[in-house]
Amino acid sequence: MDAAIEVRGLFRHFGPVPAVDGIDLTVPRGSVYGFLGPNGSGKTTTIRLMLGLIRPERGSIKLFGGAPGSVDCLAQVGAVVEQPAFYPYLSAHENLRLFATLAGMPSTTGSAAADRALDVVGLSAVAGRRVDGFSTGMSQRLAMALALLRDPTLVILDEPTNGLDPGGVVEVRGLIAELARNGKTVFLSTHVLTEVEQLCDRVAVLQRGRLVADGLVRELLERGQRLAVAFDTAEQAEQAARVLDEAGLATEPVGDRANTLMVNFEPRSSSDINRLLAGQGLYPAELVVRRASLESVFLDLTEGV
Ligand SMILES: Nc1ncnc2c1ncn2[C@@H]1O[C@H](COP(=O)(O)OP(=O)(O)OP(=O)(O)O)[C@@H](O)[C@H]1O
Ligand SMILES: [Mg+2]
Repeated sequence: MDAAIEVRGLFRHFGPVPAVDGIDLTVPRGSVYGFLGPNGSGKTTTIRLMLGLIRPERGSIKLFGGAPGSVDCLAQVGAVVEQPAFYPYLSAHENLRLFATLAGMPSTTGSAAADRALDVVGLSAVAGRRVDGFSTGMSQRLAMALALLRDPTLVILDEPTNGLDPGGVVEVRGLIAELARNGKTVFLSTHVLTEVEQLCDRVAVLQRGRLVADGLVRELLERGQRLAVAFDTAEQAEQAARVLDEAGLATEPVGDRANTLMVNFEPRSSSDINRLLAGQGLYPAELVVRRASLESVFLDLTEGV
């Protein structure tokens, strides 16, 4: 079955800057895919290319197997990439009804779709208010309502929680989780790592227009996990560090706890390590796998790139 998004060898530059420098991406249907990267790394440019808003110089993009910019493909996509232009003197509901009419929906269907979209983004209470009085967060939600108006299969969001207050951030994250539960494919750019950890099953990490990692968030986190090995005495910990070093495993001391070691143990298992140490008469008092934070994995990946 076709992926929701398939990108191959994508390249686009602005002046001397390659904003997108040879990206390959496959976004499976039904996934929540995080597109993570610092400011200026090329997230928005990639999304604009995906939506056919700008053209690539090299490479290809397919949305559900078709070319972006084709009407059939775009009809399945709802996106928030730039702040859409709303009529300032019309209400939120009227604006959405207008877009629904332009999209060819009959008036009653359009009105119901506008109600539903406003409800989903939490704007029902202000549906009748003119949008020129909307705050940044309210406008952001309205943009999201517009993206969801026609119940798209694929939702592409460029930094959807930017400019929202903490309550708004939690709500929009809840909304994204809800879209995922309803089987939508969500492609979401962000520079907020916790957002990826909370929402996404897959992630691609972008750095200066290039991908430095991509895959399952779970696997990426496993890659950075360490084993905390505690002994009764500092002397045993020192001996263990030597044994592990000889076996080619990197260890680090843990702060001021001289009896504990952190072991970079991949690709071995924790029971392997236990056996190795026991073979030398060293019996750990405690062995705990510590999951890495996505932040530390991200910093490892982007260091020196
Ligand atoms: N229209 C443009 N004209 C000139 N340079 C551009 C244009 N759009 C993007 N760039 C440059 O391309 C690079 C990538 O920009 P892009 O907006 O895609 O990054 P981003 O990852 O979305 O950043 P942010 O997190 O700040 O939104 C930057 O160096 C930017 O200055
Ligand atoms: Mg951007």
